[in-house]
Amino acid sequence: MNILIKNGTVVRSTEAFNSDIYISEGKIVQVGESLNILEPIDKEIDAAGKLIFPGGIDPHVHMHLPTSAGYSADDFDTGSKAALLGGTTTLLDFVTPQKGQSLIDALIDRKAEANNSLCDYSFHVSPVEWTKNTEQEIKDCIQSGITSFKIYMAYKDSIGLDDDNILKVMQVIGKAGGLVTLHCELGDEIEELRNEFAKNRDLSPEFHPISRPDIAESDAVKKAIEMAKKANCTIYIVHTSCEESIKHIKEAQKAGQPVYSETCPQYLLLNDSKYVGDFNDTCKYVMSPPLRKKEDQNVLWESINKGVVKTVGTDHCPFSLGQKEQGINDFRMIPNGAGGVEHRMTLLFSYGVLQNRINYNQFVDITSTQAAKIFGLYPQKGEIDTGSDADIVIWNPKIENTISVENHHQNCDLEIYEGAKTVGAPEIVILNGDVIVEKGKLVSEKKGKFLKRSI
Ligand code: URP
Ligand code: ZN
Repeated sequence: MNILIKNGTVVRSTEAFNSDIYISEGKIVQVGESLNILEPIDKEIDAAGKLIFPGGIDPHVHMHLPTSAGYSADDFDTGSKAALLGGTTTLLDFVTPQKGQSLIDALIDRKAEANNSLCDYSFHVSPVEWTKNTEQEIKDCIQSGITSFKIYMAYKDSIGLDDDNILKVMQVIGKAGGLVTLHCELGDEIEELRNEFAKNRDLSPEFHPISRPDIAESDAVKKAIEMAKKANCTIYIVHTSCEESIKHIKEAQKAGQPVYSETCPQYLLLNDSKYVGDFNDTCKYVMSPPLRKKEDQNVLWESINKGVVKTVGTDHCPFSLGQKEQGINDFRMIPNGAGGVEHRMTLLFSYGVLQNRINYNQFVDITSTQAAKIFGLYPQKGEIDTGSDADIVIWNPKIENTISVENHHQNCDLEIYEGAKTVGAPEIVILNGDVIVEKGKLVSEKKGKFLKRSI
């Protein structure tokens, strides 16, 4: 299919300019003013008055995540559709093996689960234990196109690793030139606090945030940075939520250590006042790390502005009210997580760009380009340039919406951004040269592909 996009404003992470774009066979073939294409054009799109962004890359989603409350509410089909309607064309999800299962077998199983994704996708693979085979398994994953891994410092009783094993994993991955992403919360300290609240029968969701204080996150960040330095390994701190963590990250970056940081829209836009109220109103905000203070939000915006925080992922992991009700008598049983993959770009545009917290180029950088660069997808993804995959969002900066459980496409009866007003939305979304969203509606069911990455 040959597509010619005319008269749009192309926004890259470093510049913006008026341009046409010619797409053929899934790739961007030409970018330039007043293109004169000699080949037959199947579709011409007039993008006058519209912004043209590279397809969004969400580096942190959990589709179809198994938990004791059942699978997270979006699978790869429903979650990827919601993502595309919000302008995100690539998802980075996770492979979390069972103990005793090899990383490569878990990767094969996960790929099969993801093959109904409409977005392109890859995974961060989690070593959840250290065995005599782990080193080879990590190498096998790298051979299979995986360049990033994930370590949980929390959840010690299930998927979390202890410090000795974290160091071993970092050493192997560092030596291979890969990247370790980390969920930074000190598991033991949190467990102690949770049990203390339980002893006092303090079991409503209001105790969730105070059982996971910012110091439990920032101390874990500090420790992770120290271990990464020792192991000579590049790290990426997922869902950074508070000022104290940022201080450690900034210091490491200043010293020249390769430490990347991600935050999420919920930490930029929502705060811990959400935990006050009835179970039905508060349970949807039970996520880890929890929502923090207003002051933390300001620090996170500033950190994006200064390039300390490089990406905004969603940690998309919604659960229904019925699933959250597993913890109606004990917040420790509430499945952790919330949805957001559909809203990431509209929220960042509305509350970031339009409120002058970030500019248009930074918007592209944090929603797409940086994730592509950090995770080995650039310039195939994350860029509007000749030779890149034709993943393009034609953005109407005037579309207004109010986010609601009534009109969202995420497969969940809870919505943490309920009532949030947004301005700006994708009108057309193109993935690998195919129009998938048109006039804000899904018009294709074409499946995405697994993205093999290399170091
Ligand atoms: O609460 C969260 N973040 N749930 C998803 C799993 C994780 O910890 O990343
Ligand atoms: Zn996560």
